[in-house]
Amino acid sequence: MEASCSRCLLLLFLLTCELAPEVAGEVEESSDGPGTAQGPIWLTDVPTAEEFISAAEVAIVGFFQDLEIPVVSVFHSMVQKFQDVSFGISNNSEVLAHYNITRNSISLFRLVDNEQLKLEGEEVENMEAAKLSLFIETNSLRLVTEYNTKTGFGLFNTMIEIHLLLVISKASPEYAENMNRYRKAARLFQGKILFVLVDSGMKENEKVISFFKLKKSQLPALAIYRTFDDQWDTLPITEVTVEHVKNFCDGFLEGKLLRENRTSEEKTPKVEL
Ligand SMILES: *[C@@H]1O[C@H](CO)[C@@H](O)[C@H](O)[C@H]1NC(C)=O
Ligand SMILES: *[C@@H]1O[C@H](CO)[C@@H](O)[C@H](O)[C@H]1NC(C)=O
Ligand SMILES: *[C@@H]1O[C@H](CO)[C@@H](O)[C@H](O)[C@H]1NC(C)=O
Repeated sequence: MEASCSRCLLLLFLLTCELAPEVAGEVEESSDGPGTAQGPIWLTDVPTAEEFISAAEVAIVGFFQDLEIPVVSVFHSMVQKFQDVSFGISNNSEVLAHYNITRNSISLFRLVDNEQLKLEGEEVENMEAAKLSLFIETNSLRLVTEYNTKTGFGLFNTMIEIHLLLVISKASPEYAENMNRYRKAARLFQGKILFVLVDSGMKENEKVISFFKLKKSQLPALAIYRTFDDQWDTLPITEVTVEHVKNFCDGFLEGKLLRENRTSEEKTPKVEL
């Protein structure tokens, strides 16, 4: 990952060196609280597998020729841990052949960039829970991905080179409605721009906010960043609308930079009443 990321000065800077293997040992905050005990879905034929994968924003599938290898029980334990990810499992030879599986493997399929990431062979057969967990957390990119030190790395493990960030406090009363509209806008740019949510209420995200030279008084704001040339722009907003987001993204794609014109106005920053 590092090699392909030599260009990503921004995020490597932002992330500092927090992605030590130990982070996977942190206590997880489960988004939905403790769920009911459930196993992965058995994918017993090709149509079932295809339908399962295409229905999920993030699907993790264990393709196992041998169900006795140690990672299988580790794989089962992930289902409990990641309630908002779809888990499938298959040992069906036609399914394995369809996905070109020749060795035991675990694949992550995601909708947002149509990507399939694969762990296979000996690497996966004896994989520990912490490592598999970190792989899932890092690479589970969604239509709107919440930024944290793990997804921050995953955001560069994609072909999509433009990232849009909505910087907003999740505790603000307008959050839910703004998020709905942001998600709607994300569909318009699926495959072209990765949509990211940055919770300005999290202390660990202050680095992101200051990188984009945004002041607390300017939030919520949109920030856009292109990985191959480090070009970026920002737009403070009072509320998210599909139109705001669309205009901002279209403008950036056409090469307009709003921040250049804003520097002169910065003496009169937006005031929140
Ligand atoms: C798949 O696993 C099931 C359950 O353990 C087993 O009954 C079946 O024989 C396996 N199929 C193959 C192709 O190995
Ligand atoms: C499997 O491999 C073949 C030949 O390399 C390729 O055409 C096909 O798209 C692959 N299938 C999947 C599901 O990746
Ligand atoms: C910035 O200001 C210049 C000069 O007033 C104007 O021509 C240009 O269109 C502006 N750019 C944007 C992105 O608004």
